[in-house]
Amino acid sequence: MDLLIGGGLAAFTIYAAAKWQKSDQDKIQHTFKNIGYLVKDKTPKLFKTTRSDTYMLYTYHVPFGLVDDPKLQVLEKVLNKPVKISFVNTKLHIKVFNQQLPKLIDYDWKPTERWNIPIGKSYNGSILHDFDKIPHMTIAGMTRQGKTVLLKLIFAHLILNNPDDVEFYIIDLKGGLEFGEYENMKQVKFVASDVDEAEQCLSSVMDKVKEDMRYFKAKGYRNIVDTKIKRRRFVIVDEGAQLTPSKHHTKEQRKKFDYCQYTLGEISRISGALGTRLIFGNQYPTVDNLPREVKQNSDAKISFRLPTEIASRVAIDEHGAEKLNNAGRAIYRTHEKHIMQVPYIDDKDISERLGVYNVSSASPETTSRREDTVEFG
Ligand SMILES: Nc1ncnc2c1ncn2[C@@H]1O[C@H](COP(=O)(O)OP(=O)(O)OP(=O)(O)O)[C@@H](O)[C@H]1O
Ligand SMILES: [Mg+2]
Repeated sequence: MDLLIGGGLAAFTIYAAAKWQKSDQDKIQHTFKNIGYLVKDKTPKLFKTTRSDTYMLYTYHVPFGLVDDPKLQVLEKVLNKPVKISFVNTKLHIKVFNQQLPKLIDYDWKPTERWNIPIGKSYNGSILHDFDKIPHMTIAGMTRQGKTVLLKLIFAHLILNNPDDVEFYIIDLKGGLEFGEYENMKQVKFVASDVDEAEQCLSSVMDKVKEDMRYFKAKGYRNIVDTKIKRRRFVIVDEGAQLTPSKHHTKEQRKKFDYCQYTLGEISRISGALGTRLIFGNQYPTVDNLPREVKQNSDAKISFRLPTEIASRVAIDEHGAEKLNNAGRAIYRTHEKHIMQVPYIDDKDISERLGVYNVSSASPETTSRREDTVEFG
């Protein structure tokens, strides 16, 4: 008998705990009050809830005078779930996702449309970056957070989608350790591994950009996306901070650094419409090592974890990157902002899949540092 009563009590306790445990909706309503998100005692009123496979969307009418407020970010901790807050057509939207993003997503080698690159998975699904819509990109993040992996993912996927139309000029300032092994691929025109080579590489890109400009003028073209020209040229910089002149450099060296920084700025300023795209990776962006023009002209900004909120603001114009907590997790910022997990790709996989484009065993003119003429049309 005792046993029966004891068992009944335990079951009741579990039932009561489940019943009295507050729902997300209750917790949100309590949070409004506790953090003072109200006007004269009036808190937002739930207007509707919308359920999908991956999230629950709570839409609120808010009293006049309230808009979305950064302090609502506490909801992420209160609910212990990913939350996205926005203000749409005078209503507050609180989207509560069912699941955290996975810590590892393998890159799947599925081709996509031309210049659209699947750079990450967000709570809402795949994120595709379209280099024809937004030509230039900056990528920031502390060491070992995933910048080079993302650069290689973009590189590999561009080749997968457009093997005959894409070409690369790569400045790999880790002495060529990261991209050196790809320098014999037919799509790779130049891999620069130090500042002397970077100067040569950028000067040759600049010559080509000027050539394109003359051609566009002669033809009356304004933007490559409105022409039949298929070719796109990508300039990738891995570790741009290495191009910063310092007092330890000689005058001669400083001139080279200055030239590289200036030219990157010029490329970002004039070449987007002509079909050249710049991707500038950098550990810790500062006003000294992220050329102002490059930042201004890069409408896509990605950041992995950064040490401070200030660094986050330099990289993506807002806080948040200081809170990212695992390799491959990044914020993708265009006119919108998404938190994403970048798919993981490794060198072995790239070499196996793209090895067919290796021309190292071909005739001498196809070996490294090729300076082929760009073909139009
Ligand atoms: N998208 C990812 N998913 C899971 N793990 C990742 C991802 N990207 C990177 N990593 C892990 O982090 C390590 C370092 O990545 P990566 O070389 O890209 O860092 P980095 O930001 O370029 O660092 P550094 O500034 O030192 O060059 C990888 O070897 C891998 O273990
Ligand atoms: Mg790196």
